[in-house]
Amino acid sequence: LGCGLLELVKNVDLSASNTLGLAARAQSVLCIDNDASLAAVCEAVRGHGVQRVLGGGSNVVLAAELPGVTVQVQTRGVQLLTQSAQARVVQAQAGECWHDFVQYCLAQGWPGLENLALIPGTVGAAPVQNIGAYGVELAQRFHSLVAWDLQAGRVVEMGLQDCQFAYRDSVFKRAAPGRWLIVAVRFCLPVRWQPVLDYPDLQRYVDLQGVASDAVEAQDVFDAVCAIRRSKLPDPAVLPNAGSFFKNPVVTREQYLYLARTWPDLPAHAQAGGFYKLAAGWLVEQAGWKGKRVGAVGMHERQALVLVNHGGATANQVLALAAQVQASVQQRFGVLLEQEPVVFS
Ligand code: EPU
Repeated sequence: LGCGLLELVKNVDLSASNTLGLAARAQSVLCIDNDASLAAVCEAVRGHGVQRVLGGGSNVVLAAELPGVTVQVQTRGVQLLTQSAQARVVQAQAGECWHDFVQYCLAQGWPGLENLALIPGTVGAAPVQNIGAYGVELAQRFHSLVAWDLQAGRVVEMGLQDCQFAYRDSVFKRAAPGRWLIVAVRFCLPVRWQPVLDYPDLQRYVDLQGVASDAVEAQDVFDAVCAIRRSKLPDPAVLPNAGSFFKNPVVTREQYLYLARTWPDLPAHAQAGGFYKLAAGWLVEQAGWKGKRVGAVGMHERQALVLVNHGGATANQVLALAAQVQASVQQRFGVLLEQEPVVFS
């Protein structure tokens, strides 16, 4: 049990705590480290209620003023819980940096997360949107997690089914703000590891390095993912952004065939149940938004799906540009793009 004293810090500047670089102030912030206990958190926020939990701030649009309590989790630690002939179960505390955790696992000889290298944010935020990239999503490597149910004041353990993972979605993304505090996440990593090279860019990169397909190691996949991401996606430290600003839309087979008649180049992937996932970046580019700037905000010149802050943008400007992009894609293709980052206000 941790100490019973947790301090609510008033009027905190969060402009360096969100990768879109929006100027934002929290009325009060509660930092949770390894010493904090559920009882102490409940005590500290009694009467206020937690309004939001902020991880690495890489998938959020922050309003200028954030009333009530914002929680930041800064717990640290990684542990190998169990190992069998099939799998290792590795637990990481929620405050760990995701990319550092991926790297640490590789260094220990625990591959399985390399396709998810370089995704910004924390371990605790990763299940919220079921992070995914280059052919792997968190749900495929997930074992369970430990969360604090702040409404019920209980510690809960949640398995794969409980989390209701879907593409960029989970029970946590849909829950009332501040209901759950994810404190640790457990991953199930395969002992008989096989590279996942389904993503065409990845296979191409590995081929170019001259690595034989039966000799590909996790480090090769890690290096490839880092190189591809660095070539396409802007570094938030240089050009503030929140990654993909829209989800790739999923449409029916009829709608896909209808669109493909007019736009034969439309990139699409068949999904279970006869659905098709379209490339939102392509739709945004075709609608004329790639590299376009509107005041302080714009769509990135190499990846049209990434909304960037050229300096001094506000949440309203971000959301206004997103609405404009949505409207023009809707008008041109009849497809509604769903926003990916969560708005905190
Ligand atoms: N495309 C364009 N123009 C663009 C951008 C993309 O034509 O401006 C086309 C590409 O040529 C390609 C297709 O769209 O044919 C897909 O592009 P890409 O491979 O860059 O991936 P994405 O579908 O745009 C998704 C994820 C990324 C993830 C990559 C790799 C979503 C919303 N985004 O992007 O995730 O890194 O795949 O797996 O699913 C994030 O969520 O923040 C994120 C970066």
